[in-house]
Amino acid sequence: MKIEYLHASKFGNGAMAAAYFKEQMAAKSVDVDVHHITEVRPAELAPAGLYVFSSPGRFGRPIRGMRRFLKKLSLPVGTRYAILTTEAAPKPDKKTGRVPTEDELAKYQRVRPVMNELLQGQGLVKIGEVKVLVTGLKGPLEDGWETKVDSFAAALCASLENSAAAPARAAREAA
Ligand SMILES: Cc1cc2nc3c(=O)[nH]c(=O)nc-3n(C[C@H](O)[C@H](O)[C@H](O)COP(=O)(O)O)c2cc1C
Repeated sequence: MKIEYLHASKFGNGAMAAAYFKEQMAAKSVDVDVHHITEVRPAELAPAGLYVFSSPGRFGRPIRGMRRFLKKLSLPVGTRYAILTTEAAPKPDKKTGRVPTEDELAKYQRVRPVMNELLQGQGLVKIGEVKVLVTGLKGPLEDGWETKVDSFAAALCASLENSAAAPARAAREAA
């Protein structure tokens, strides 16, 4: 199983998450090839069992380079993907001190929905998604970000193992 990991990190936080993800997957004997989106052509990605797309947020959406990249993909319908975004930690309201809820945030923060729309519009199938926060506009990553990436990696592995086991299980059940 090989994973292609395409990121659009500008200030290095997403690149750090990618490097950590690669390390975690290597410990599970899964090979991850990490590329910045400027290093590869979207229509000529190497074959892989899973594609991970990672983008920073910009004005409520994925950064423009990633939006363009995703529009130009040429992957077969049914290809599995996952997304990891780096997004600004929500700020407490100046008057009330209350941090916006996920529902409130979702009104102006559409980084993951936009990526999912672009990918699912091409028939790709999502098997995982995670948001990692940065505490300032350019970073650093929030405390404990590694734990989020660990869980993301573990959930992807479980999903890939399940789907690999599915044909054998179906054959056993049919026998
Ligand atoms: C001009 C500008 C606009 C931004 N707008 C958003 C935004 O709308 N939503 C968000 O979550 N993060 C926003 N950010 C913060 C990014 O999430 C942050 O820069 C990024 O996650 C860092 O990742 P990177 O180091 O991999 O580039 C913005 C940052 C800049 C510089």
